[in-house]
Amino acid sequence: MKIRTAVLPVAGWGTRFLPATKAVPKELLPIVDRPAIQYAIEEAVASGIERVILVTSEHKRAIEDHFDISADLEAILEQRGDIEHLRAVRAVADMVHLVTIRQKEQLGLGHAVLMARDAVGHEPFAVMLPDDLIFGATPALAELMEAYVATQASVLGVMRVAPSETHRYGIVDPDTTLPTSDQGRTIPLRGVVEKPDAAHAPSALAVVGRYILGPKIFERLEQTPHGLNGEIQLTDAIHTLAQEQPVVARHFSGTRYDVGSPEGWLRANLHVALDHPVYGPVVRGAVAAENERLT
Ligand code: UTP
Repeated sequence: MKIRTAVLPVAGWGTRFLPATKAVPKELLPIVDRPAIQYAIEEAVASGIERVILVTSEHKRAIEDHFDISADLEAILEQRGDIEHLRAVRAVADMVHLVTIRQKEQLGLGHAVLMARDAVGHEPFAVMLPDDLIFGATPALAELMEAYVATQASVLGVMRVAPSETHRYGIVDPDTTLPTSDQGRTIPLRGVVEKPDAAHAPSALAVVGRYILGPKIFERLEQTPHGLNGEIQLTDAIHTLAQEQPVVARHFSGTRYDVGSPEGWLRANLHVALDHPVYGPVVRGAVAAENERLT
């Protein structure tokens, strides 16, 4: 079955980026010239997604506005003959069919995904965390979809991390009795372990914010007990799912940045700016001038 729908949970508080995110959703912080979430939605569209379900909170209304038509703004731009910006703002409004759902209490990522149950219906769907931006020649979600088509299993996007980093991620537990495919990039799993230290990590492959999940995940989320701070962890539900249905990891080929933290956001800005025909030379010039000033 084709993956038509992507769920983007954006209801989190964004505390790692305070005070910048006190009044502005972290998803709207710009990466060079576009808000971070626009990159994730562009990736979804480039991967063939037709419908995006945003799981939002009362503090995140501005995200919906960004993807809505702004008739006043368009009229002003038209009057001024600013066709370039007019095209850009229209393109954002026309980008994708967007549905929004409120998560009334912030009870974790698993709970946020569960809120999308009725809107998703009984079909496999993608989950994308817009904090995780992945830049590469092929959209990361499209690579997961390839693995889904080949295996008909739920798919988790993974990347290799250093042993000192495993405690910050869900780490996949490969099923070494089954063959890998895609030159070792698609790996059958026994499950996922949440934030193990290096000594207990079953692999060095960390789950980052791209998933393709079968609708059975909703039943597992409903049965997942609330953990620390009353939160429902998506990882726990996926681990349970892996005990009854095939789940595979797909090692995506792009570079991932955690733009929910100032460090990752800065690095993502540099990545995009350095690749940009106008801003690339600006950044290189600025770095050279800064080096000169410091020597
Ligand atoms: P994070 O772990 O990044 O949490 O959530 P956060 O609250 O957004 O940010 P920090 O850690 O306080 O800085 C991972 C993803 O899950 C969503 C977030 O919006 C983010 O996309 N999320 C998290 C929800 O939608 N609802 C929740 O209750 C929790």
